[in-house]
Amino acid sequence: MYEMKDEYLTGVPMIDEEHTRLFEIAEEAYQISKQEFVPDKYDQIQAVLDELKDYTVLHFEHEEAYMESIKHKKLYTQKIQHEGFRRKLEELVRLDELEGDQQEQDKVIDDILKFLTDWLVSHILNNDKLIGKL
Ligand SMILES: [Fe+2]
Ligand SMILES: [Fe+2]
Repeated sequence: MYEMKDEYLTGVPMIDEEHTRLFEIAEEAYQISKQEFVPDKYDQIQAVLDELKDYTVLHFEHEEAYMESIKHKKLYTQKIQHEGFRRKLEELVRLDELEGDQQEQDKVIDDILKFLTDWLVSHILNNDKLIGKL
């Protein structure tokens, strides 16, 4: 469901490796959410989503540091976007507030994962891909 694709490549190995890892973590969360009879499923998903959040924040730090090192023109734009997403992550990745039956909860997790990866993909395509070019 979630995977790194060639079209997402920026040409900067460190950034591409970290993006690959982000998709792997998202896929892990997706796979757990699809399992039906797993005890403590939501604890596991919460742990993976926390990992996704932490790794994203770390990745942003690395990416911004790299952009700074090459004096990239779009650093400021990226910082603003990263910050907005960081806030969104804090807000979204809190499953302890999940309510409703299992089906509803699974739907919420699907929506969260979809939102996070959609953001990531469009950010990579529209912003990160310029890092290797400009
Ligand atoms: Fe970025
Ligand atoms: Fe990135």
